[in-house]
Formats: sequence, C-alpha cells, structure tokens
Amino acid sequence: MLPLLKTRVPGPRSRKLARQLRRHECRNTTFVSAAWPIFWERARGCNVWDADGNRYLDLTAAFGVASVGHSNPRVTAALRRQAGRLVHAMGDVHPNELKVKLAQELSSLTFGRWLDQSKIQPRKRSGQNPKSKILFANSGSEAVEAALKTAMLATGKPGVIAFVGAYHGLTYGALDATAWNYFRAPFHPQLPGFAVHVAPTESAVRAAFEESERGIGAVIVEPILGRGGVIVPPPGFLPMLRRVCDEHGAMLIADEVYTGFCRTGRWFAVEHWGVVPDLLCVGKAMSNGFPIAACIGRAGVMDAWPESAGEALHTSTHLGNPIGCAMALAAIGEMKRLKLDECARRLQDRLPGRGLGFMKGVELADAAACQCVVQRLLRRGILALGGGERGNVLTLTPPLTISEKELDFAAEEIAELTK
Ligand SMILES: Cc1ncc(COP(=O)(O)O)c(C=O)c1O
Repeated sequence: MLPLLKTRVPGPRSRKLARQLRRHECRNTTFVSAAWPIFWERARGCNVWDADGNRYLDLTAAFGVASVGHSNPRVTAALRRQAGRLVHAMGDVHPNELKVKLAQELSSLTFGRWLDQSKIQPRKRSGQNPKSKILFANSGSEAVEAALKTAMLATGKPGVIAFVGAYHGLTYGALDATAWNYFRAPFHPQLPGFAVHVAPTESAVRAAFEESERGIGAVIVEPILGRGGVIVPPPGFLPMLRRVCDEHGAMLIADEVYTGFCRTGRWFAVEHWGVVPDLLCVGKAMSNGFPIAACIGRAGVMDAWPESAGEALHTSTHLGNPIGCAMALAAIGEMKRLKLDECARRLQDRLPGRGLGFMKGVELADAAACQCVVQRLLRRGILALGGGERGNVLTLTPPLTISEKELDFAAEEIAELTK
C-alpha cells in the first residue's frame, strides 16, 4: 500500500516517546532531532504504521531484515506455534530438533548447491557426507567472529585481509575487519590488529599477502559493499580473490550478512560470479526478524574445530534458539515459494541507483544532501536510509515482496527529490 499520513511527521506521540527514550537510553544510540525518529507500532508487508497512526512505505526492510515482508503470515504462524511449544533450548548442550532442520536447510541452500553446480572443484568430495557445517550465532557480527576463528584454526595464520569501505560489524573481532575509521577510532587502542585493510585490487591483495609478517589466514569480503554504499565489484574481482586465496592456502570468507537470501537477485551474491567461498556469514534476512545468524563453511574447513569433549570452544547462551530456527525455516520457505530471487532480479531496474536486485544506492553530493532527501522522503511517508562511508548514498533495500505499484511510486518520489 502507498503511504497515508494523518499527522505531521514525526507526530506528537513519536516525539514524546523520543524525549522519554533520550532520558534513559545511552545517548549515542538512537539519533533524536525535531525531524527524527518515528516510533514504529506495527508493520505488514511493505508498510509500517507509526505510533501516531501514519502509514509508511518501507524501502529499508528494517536494515534488510524483512525480506519476505513485515509480519509475513507464515513466519508469524511459525513464531506463534514455536512460542507455544518451546521458547528456549540449551543451544550446545540439549538442543531442539529445529536446529538440525535449519542446519540441513542452510547446507543444502549453499555449499550443497554450489559444490554440485560450480565449475570450481571442491577440495574433497566426501560421498554422502554433508558438504558444509554450521556454527550458529545471534548477530551478523558474531557470525563474522565465528568465521574469523574458524579461519585461524584452519590455517594457523592470524592475519586477515579486509577491504577499504568494508563493514563487518562492531564487536571487537568484526570491528578489526571493519574498515570505517568512524567506528574504529575511539576503540583503536583495544583493537586486536590482526586485520589489514587494502584497496580492492589484485596488486594490493598480493602485496598484503607478501608483506604480512604473521601470515594471512583469510580474506574477508562483502561480495557487494552494502553499508559502504552499495558498490558492485568489477566482474573479475571475486574470482581473483578465490585464486589468490587458493595460491596462499587462505580462507575466502564471504560476508553475506546483508546480501544473502535473495537480496541481490540471487540466493547469495557470490553466485553472480560463480565463486564458492570457504566460509559464508549470513544473518539479517535469514529469519525475517529474529536475531539469529550463522557461519557456514566447507565441511573440511569447519572440521578444523576439534571434536567437543563437552565444553564448546565457541558458543553462546541463545545459540540456535528454537523460535529463531522456526522463523528462519519459514522465511526460507517463503523465499522459495515466492521465488524472491527471481522477483528481485526481474524488477531491479524499477528502483533507481546502482546495485543488484533490491540492493540499490543513489549517490548524492554529500551527507547533508543525503540526509535532506531521507528526511523529506520520511515526511512523504517513505522510509529510506543513508549509507556509504561518507554518508552520501541513499540506500534502498525494500522487502523483496514489494509490488510494482509501490516500486513505481517510490521511484517517482525519489526522482523528484534527487533531481
Ligand atoms: C555485511 C555485514 N556484515 C556484518 C554486519 C553486522 O551484523 P549485525 O549488525 O547483525 O551484527 C552487517 C550489518 O549491517 C553487515 O552489513
């Protein structure tokens, strides 16, 4: 549905809630101004209603999470069903059956498909054995932590190459790989310093391998730079990384926390280039709204973790939460049923900007211009976000279920505000 505004934006109730929140929440967290934020009350499909009853068209999918639509009925039914049965299990001690099902599903969606189809030969074919194994996590950052630890165990080399502009999360390990000075600078003295950040070119990657004193065990890459401003690499970039990693016995980690699950018009963005990583990080859209994520790796690589003798080396209290698993299975089911990879591919040109599928970025002059467009869109009932390290990229990641009518309306409004 198109937007329907009943009050000025933000309305009086949103503004009152913002004043209250400001008194209690860490002042660095929610940005509050006269024009920002609105408080979300409910959401359905591509629409969000705020605390003042205004209806918005959501071009963010709430950070790329609500890919199968907000409050998707099948995902909500799975959540309700699971909430009535078992809300929490003992992740790495006494788990729940859904963890098995989700691990199987994730394996068959990723390495199961890739190693059957890819021209790249798997390092070891293992008959009936699964082609990949999973480490569950609660957030994208944690999935990245799990991949970094796996690479360390698999190679014995602590160094990691990451790319300028990359965003891999803000926990300390992930932050070390994240290249944004803004996030790193205040914490620099506490950063572990295993990551080097290089330009996305073959010569820079090769030089980083040669110059590393401690040895490079992994290259971590967002196949399409997401928060960094929706930048699609040149066609040879990911295949080059695969080649160079193979030459050096290093792990290629694809961070698909943002790009995964049909967002870019393929189930996973690496598929645009036919590249099979060693480790894949997923999160965000996986469950359509429950904090669950995963590091999925080639079975041979993941087996670098020693067999547990009763005390897992890497785990967390909520690992493999049953509600998260139930929602993820339902969300993946919806992506398949609605063929959302195809939808995002077919309709990608209806959204302006660069990018692939429903991950688009419109480059504007600077951060001020971008914020101005974001706030004017909000006042017209359209939710969008700024992105890019310089804050100058209007970022568009709607639910993948967005209709043609909604897309055309959004495109017209954006064209008017950015001309
Ligand atoms: C590519 C990528 N990796 C990792 C993360 C971190 O995920 P989370 O915020 O769930 O920790 C993000 C978040 O935006 C991301 O875009």
